[in-house]
Formats: sequence, structure tokens, C-alpha cells
Amino acid sequence: MSHERNADIELRLLIEAIYLKYSYDFRDYSGASVKRRVAHALRQFELKTISALQERVLHDPSAFMQLLQFLTIPVSEMFRDPSHFLAIRQEVVPVLKTYPSLKIWIAGCSTGEEVYSMAILLREEGLLDRAIIYATDINPSSLEKAKQGIFSMDHIPGYNTNYLKAGGKRQFSDYYTAAYDHAIFDKKLRENVTFADHSLATDSVFSETQLISCRNVLIYFNKKLQDRAFGLFHESLCHRGFLVLGSKETLDFSGYKDQFEPLVKQERIYRKS
Ligand SMILES: C[S@@+](CC[C@H](N)C(=O)[O-])C[C@H]1O[C@@H](n2cnc3c(N)ncnc32)[C@H](O)[C@@H]1O
Repeated sequence: MSHERNADIELRLLIEAIYLKYSYDFRDYSGASVKRRVAHALRQFELKTISALQERVLHDPSAFMQLLQFLTIPVSEMFRDPSHFLAIRQEVVPVLKTYPSLKIWIAGCSTGEEVYSMAILLREEGLLDRAIIYATDINPSSLEKAKQGIFSMDHIPGYNTNYLKAGGKRQFSDYYTAAYDHAIFDKKLRENVTFADHSLATDSVFSETQLISCRNVLIYFNKKLQDRAFGLFHESLCHRGFLVLGSKETLDFSGYKDQFEPLVKQERIYRKS
């Protein structure tokens, strides 16, 4: 019991130390998730206590960058939840086509799989040329990987299946060149993409957008931080703009519930009221 209590205190101190030293704010992330991530990091660092980890990251910025990989969960896939992308194609794209130019914000884009999926969808719908995509995240290594657009060939069969289920209109292989065990995605897909460091916990709104996709990010936040993010999205979206979330995320318990209406509830597609 006292061991557990100590661990809770140490965890709070670690999160505070990270904030004070590196300005990364994990203070309002879901406690259970941060606890699991830190426990995993401890094993990898081969350290016994969170205090030892705190000492390491305070004195060694490269150790902090390593810890960030555990805290940010850089897991993604292309056309993740294909029915979601199909619903965007069917329900959102017809409205997007009415705009002469588009701004799209992908918040928490991780290593870029979601960005390339969205770019492929927009290209097939004739919208990519008139779109600017802001792809943001707090993890610089993930953003660097996203900019490269190179993914392991091992994942391609799964992505191909997702692409087809998501209503893909061509051959998925049209979008990449295979090089040994990697798939190098067409750089034209990211011509209109700006990758940028942006935190939903500490930064503010930067542009007026027609569509915001923030998927599988808010599950790691507590309610207060989720509401901060929803506030940013509400402020950023144009009149009747679209907000799309991950399959386990909802506006239902948020203070912003009444500011949005569900368009395809099952697919977590909302529209600003
Ligand atoms: C599980 S990944 C989701 C990737 C992608 N959106 C998807 O659905 O496949 C979560 C991402 O959220 C990012 N993230 C965590 N906290 C964030 C914050 N405060 N602001 C912006 N992004 C954040 C992480 O760095 C990570 O890349």
C-alpha cells in the first residue's frame, strides 16, 4: 500500500518535473494510462523507481526524448477504421466540394499514416489540390517520420485491405514505390501538408479550418483536457465545419456537446452547430 502511495507521489513529481524542465504538459492526461506507460518505460530503462527515472530525464534530455516515445503512444495505421473513412467520403466530401479552398487540421497525426490516408482520399475526390493540411503532434520523432512518408512493407497488405474497405477507387500500390522492405509514399501527397509541433494541452488555435480530425488522442486525456481540445476545435472550425474523432471518443460527456451535432454518430463524425 505504502509502495503504491509512493509510486503515485513519484509519478506526480515526474510529470511536474517534465513540465517544468521541458514544457511538455502531461498533467491532465488520464492517470491510469500515464501510469501504465511509465511502468513500461521503467522496465525498458531498467530502473527500479519513478524517482530514478525522474533523475535521469531531468539531467539527460536524450533520456527525456526516449521517455516521450512511451508517453505519446506513437501507434497508427492507414485508413484505420475503414468505415470511418468511407463515411467521410460519403457524407463529408460532398460538402467539402462546395468550398473553393480547404483547410484541414489533423491533430495528433503521429507518424503520418492518417495524413497520407486523408491525402489519398482527397486526391481521389479531386480535392487535394485545393486543400492545405496542417498535421500536428507533440512528438518530434513522429513528425519527422511522418514527413518522410516511408512505412514498413509488412503493414502494406493490411493497409491495402483497409483502403479497399474505405472505398478506395484505384490500386493502393499507385501511391507508393516498394523499395526492399519499405513503401515510399508519393511525395505529391504531402505537397500541401504542413507538419508542425502543436500541443492540444498548451498551444492555441492557429487557423480557420473546414475539417478537423483528431483520432485516438483524446482517449489519453482527462475530461478537463478533452474540453480544452474541444474548445480549440470549436474556435478553429468555420461555420458548420466538421470534427471527426476516434472510435472510442465522443463529445457526449463534454461541455461542448451542444456546440456540435452528430452527423454520423457511429463513425464519430460531428458538425459544428
Ligand atoms: C495513438 S496516436 C494516434 C495517431 C493517429 N491520430 C491515429 O488515429 O492513428 C496518439 C498521438 O497523439 C499525440 N499527442 C499526445 N498528446 C498530444 C497533445 N497534447 N497534443 C497533440 N498531440 C498529442 C501523440 O504524440 C501521438 O502521436
